[in-house]
Amino acid sequence: MARSKSSLTQVLLSWYSQNGRQLPWRKTKDPYAIWISEIMLQQTRAEVVIPYYERFLQAFPTVQALAQAPLDTVLRLWEGLGYYSRARNLHRAAKQIVRHGGTFPRDAKEWKELPGIGPYTAAALAAIVNGQDAIALDANLLRVGARLFGERGIVTSPVVRKRIERRFLELLPPGKAGTFNQALMDLGATVCLPRNPRCEACPLRRFCVAQATGQQEKIPVRARRRVRPHKQFIAAVLQDERGRLLLVRQADRGIWGGLWTLPYVEARSWREARPKLEAITGTRMKRTAGRSPYSITHTFTHFTATYTAIPAIPTTRVRHGRWVRPEQPNLAVPVPHRKLLQAFSRGGFGAIPHARTPSNP
Ligand code: ADE
Repeated sequence: MARSKSSLTQVLLSWYSQNGRQLPWRKTKDPYAIWISEIMLQQTRAEVVIPYYERFLQAFPTVQALAQAPLDTVLRLWEGLGYYSRARNLHRAAKQIVRHGGTFPRDAKEWKELPGIGPYTAAALAAIVNGQDAIALDANLLRVGARLFGERGIVTSPVVRKRIERRFLELLPPGKAGTFNQALMDLGATVCLPRNPRCEACPLRRFCVAQATGQQEKIPVRARRRVRPHKQFIAAVLQDERGRLLLVRQADRGIWGGLWTLPYVEARSWREARPKLEAITGTRMKRTAGRSPYSITHTFTHFTATYTAIPAIPTTRVRHGRWVRPEQPNLAVPVPHRKLLQAFSRGGFGAIPHARTPSNP
């Protein structure tokens, strides 16, 4: 048993040395750079992260540079990557590290003391930066482990997670946790795919219980997913005489804390939304006659949302927010609102179509 396990580890590591992805954060030993990469990689694929990682490190090459930067600049570099609390926590953590003399954590327990670092990221950083024997059990590793070990329980349950972690820990070559974890991550990202796994290309197929029993499409077993609720938001598109649009800054909490958006509220109609939008902007407003609304839908992790942007005119002085050119707001704007600005800058949302004469069925 022990022999076959160690040969599994050898096969995995030799596959990784030939087939591992060349990713920029794998070329450095700088704890700061690796930390930035692991925060960006939370919930986000490596290909998406690469350009953000490179731009971020160019702008803030050291933890001191990051700690000194204004939050708005940090958020702008994060724009489009989503989950903006990551950027706010990174900024807070940088200040904390600098206050403590600029030294980075030495193990998972110390990493977890920084804002924005949960058990998964702490394990990844402890393994990659500190060489601590730890398993970074994200969705990829859970899937690989569940298939490899033929795990039939619900994969997200604490008992199953623990079991998979224990099995991986038995296989981990001491002192090589960084390589071992990243090899499993790459196997999950390129071979042991959620759907249509490429078993024919898998170095571990002769060790894999799911492959031997033809269950690779049935494992991992997931809890039944609840249907995502749908939310409706109404945004006011307030325009000044120079064609600029009003954006407001979101308070430092929530999914878009610190970012700039059109004034918007959760509501189903303009009638319901208007008083709230007036409170947000500190101005009275009325709909622009003859201008049609424009809607987009966006999927978040836990819900889907429709944003309906309604052109409106301020009828009193505007007290809150900032006027920006829609084609170039020069502020950190989350993706759905950026899409609304882009649609508007392509020529407004158009006129309300004339009522069509009903055609015969
Ligand atoms: N996902 C999380 N951490 C990663 C890493 N170091 N390399 C590739 N993908 C990852």
